Amino acid sequence: MPATLASDLARYLDDNDRRFHDELFDFLRIPSVSARSEYDADMQRAAKWVSDNLRTAGLDTEILSTPGHPVVLGEWRKAPAGALTVLIYGHYDVQPAEPLELWTSPPFEPAMRNGRIYARGSVDDKGQLFAHMKALEAHLGARGRLPVNIIVLAEGEEEVGSDNLEAFVTKHAKRLACDYIVISDSSMFAPGLPSILSSLRGLAYFQIDLEGPAGDLHSGSYGGAVVNPAMALARILATFFDANGHIAIPGFYDKVREWDPKIRAQIKALPFDEANFKKEVGVSVLGGEAGYSTLERLWSRPTCEVNGLLSGYTAEGSKTVLPSKAMAKVSCRLVADQNPAEIERLVREHITRVAPAGVKVTIQMLHGGQPWSAELQGPLYDAAKRALNAAFGRDPVVIGEGGSIPVVSDFQRLLGAPVLLVGFGLPGENAHAPDEWFADENFTKGMRAMASLWDEIAAGARA
Ligand code: BES
Ligand code: ZN
Repeated sequence: MPATLASDLARYLDDNDRRFHDELFDFLRIPSVSARSEYDADMQRAAKWVSDNLRTAGLDTEILSTPGHPVVLGEWRKAPAGALTVLIYGHYDVQPAEPLELWTSPPFEPAMRNGRIYARGSVDDKGQLFAHMKALEAHLGARGRLPVNIIVLAEGEEEVGSDNLEAFVTKHAKRLACDYIVISDSSMFAPGLPSILSSLRGLAYFQIDLEGPAGDLHSGSYGGAVVNPAMALARILATFFDANGHIAIPGFYDKVREWDPKIRAQIKALPFDEANFKKEVGVSVLGGEAGYSTLERLWSRPTCEVNGLLSGYTAEGSKTVLPSKAMAKVSCRLVADQNPAEIERLVREHITRVAPAGVKVTIQMLHGGQPWSAELQGPLYDAAKRALNAAFGRDPVVIGEGGSIPVVSDFQRLLGAPVLLVGFGLPGENAHAPDEWFADENFTKGMRAMASLWDEIAAGARA
């Protein structure tokens, strides 16, 4: 029998829909850009906004400082004895909005167009975090209680690598003790297709700096006799891959675990439309590691990508110069059971081996995160299936994810609780890019699914 959302919760969500939208728009107006110190006051404002909103809904709240941006905790621990405790994680920080001129409407002036909420952070992750906050409010508003104990942990550093969160979770492990962890900071496979994640990739992010001559040189007077750092960098980067798109850094694949055949089969059955995917990204030909499908390349295989390159003269016209420096930002996305520290070592060894004489190479690891893969069985998974069915009218599909949420595997390890990743974004949502949007329908259904989830988890525990 298809599951349904309890009518009192459905009514509460319907009756308050206008206000929920107004509140979400207020939240989205705060430019909580974690990467830039000029927004520090806005980060504080966003933390306070989350805290105030949770408190109004009926949770106890506290804003805890970290060496970086604050963590907001919301707690409701009045469920009947024996009830389960669930930790909801989300992030209130957003990526920088630049380039501003490519936005149709300003990034911090949310706008509804064609059923989409356009704003920086609408889908990643303020809108999804807020859907959780309102699902909790629905229970407390309609019934005065929740069927499970709740801890909301909203952080402000996810978009800069969550560097302080592992220590935070370690320090507060007792207070954060829980049976389950639920996170909505990802996307569905397609509109109308609710999705549960089976994996996230991890990350090892490097900055590579090359220094050659003491200063920029005349490329005629010196070119040909002095090693050019830009060319040296290009040569180093070119050694990262072989002609089959296979990463050629020795040892890189040693820990890569092959996927569970069951999950592989589920993923093969997904309605993936390669032509549509090409259209979405605006290319006519795809590329990657030979022997793997596009979804396998995205979800089950590691990568090494140049994120940025800088060297020499890049302004208008020509300038004959041999640059003294070159820099690249490179990120490796990792899969289970690769480890960022080990990959760092392999990348350092490899670069040291291939770097030409005549340049000084410095490698900095900017951040790392462990890959994660899900259990996909047990009462939490079953409850999520029913809750998603109640909101979307169909069972969820299982998908992988190419992106990273660095804290997920830390949570699992430090709190010893399984993590459910269920997101409400959509392909093409422009996360991290201009014109980011969140489908209004998914905002509404997300709130319903999460409101239903708390009932379904409690029902599953009683069964
Ligand atoms: N919400 C994303 C993670 C994500 C990306 C989920 C794509 C689903 C699809 C998260 O906010 C994010 O962008 N993470 C960063 C982590 C990095 C800054 C350490 C990422 O994946 O680049
Ligand atoms: Zn993000």
